[in-house]
Amino acid sequence: MGEQAPHGGKLVNRVNLRCPVDASLHSIELSPLELSDLELIANGAYSPLEGFMGKADYEAVVDHMRLENGIPWSLPITLAVDEQRAMRLRNGEMVNLVHKGAIYGVMTIEELFFPDKKAEADKVYQTADLNHPGVKKLFARPEVYVAGPITLVKRPEKSKFTRYYLDPAETRKKFQELGWESIVGFQTRNPVHRAHEYIQKTALETVDGLFLNPLVGETKADDIPSEIRMESYEVLLNNYYPKDRVFLAVFPAAMRYAGPREAIFHAIVRKNFGCTHFIVGRDHAGVGSYYGTYDAQKIFSYFEEGELGIKPLFFEHSFYCKKCANMASEKTCPHGEEEHVILSGTAVRQMLKNGEHPPQEFSRPEVIDTLIKGMKKAYTKI
Ligand code: ADX
Repeated sequence: MGEQAPHGGKLVNRVNLRCPVDASLHSIELSPLELSDLELIANGAYSPLEGFMGKADYEAVVDHMRLENGIPWSLPITLAVDEQRAMRLRNGEMVNLVHKGAIYGVMTIEELFFPDKKAEADKVYQTADLNHPGVKKLFARPEVYVAGPITLVKRPEKSKFTRYYLDPAETRKKFQELGWESIVGFQTRNPVHRAHEYIQKTALETVDGLFLNPLVGETKADDIPSEIRMESYEVLLNNYYPKDRVFLAVFPAAMRYAGPREAIFHAIVRKNFGCTHFIVGRDHAGVGSYYGTYDAQKIFSYFEEGELGIKPLFFEHSFYCKKCANMASEKTCPHGEEEHVILSGTAVRQMLKNGEHPPQEFSRPEVIDTLIKGMKKAYTKI
């Protein structure tokens, strides 16, 4: 078995930090989500995308989860500008992509178009409810999408956990050095609790290595901040995982909370980082009750076997069972719910904020200590 092929066949590289910049060009201000997308297009994480999507790709993705050329792709990757600014932009024009006064990229405009946001919400998020954090953000964006190939000319600043930022070319090299041929990717926006550990280690029984790839881009306000989570991952790996079988690096994208559609996207991106397998458990990338518990698994059957080029590994809702004295799921445990230690994310976050310790069966004590310490520091700063 050779190295995993990137999605679409070729790892995109549109980083050119020596590209001369011309401050006199028109500029487009990027949101934090767009800035992270710019970098992830440029470093090949979003291969085969080479820029922000034009109308044909956008509509094909929204309507049937494919780029115009038929390659599977599940989330629109777009750049939005307001109408006033759009009126001053022309096709063929080169523009600067700016965030808080600094130029991070350049783009050659190929197209400006009005998206149908209602259709985007209905199809991508399966709801147009503004209480959904992804939908809310979608409708808050300016009304015109501007498309074209990009070049990244400056790296977004990485002041936190610098050593965990790796481009797909670097993680691929790392996996080769480690001698791994089968690599399972794990997406998370949460601390790693016992259920996560259980499904990761179950997968690890059958593959060479685990790529723990927590998302550290924009998340909703009540998710645990990435700097607190990163410390908890280090503590967990140091205490409970074999060192030569896990590799930790961050995924600097924003969360969309698009559930099933985002699970496909998460899998494709991990393929670009070099993974051959990808874990999808219960309610992947979900929020509230917008998606069914296993919708993010079911959606994979939309594609023909092999089309995605990465194998999803599905896991049932897992928990600690007091009777089994073990981690388990409905597939392996005969006991009733009263024996199962199950806590909602909201309940756990509340406990951590109050300095209370969730039970050991739910989370490793070292992880809890780190989280409580981190939360205390974060909340005394405010
Ligand atoms: S996500 O939004 O990044 O998907 P989270 O960090 O909670 O959320 O989940 C990371 C991965 O673990 C997802 O694939 C999710 O489906 C899975 N997962 C989380 N908790 C459980 C659980 N108790 N049982 C099985 N899978 C789970």
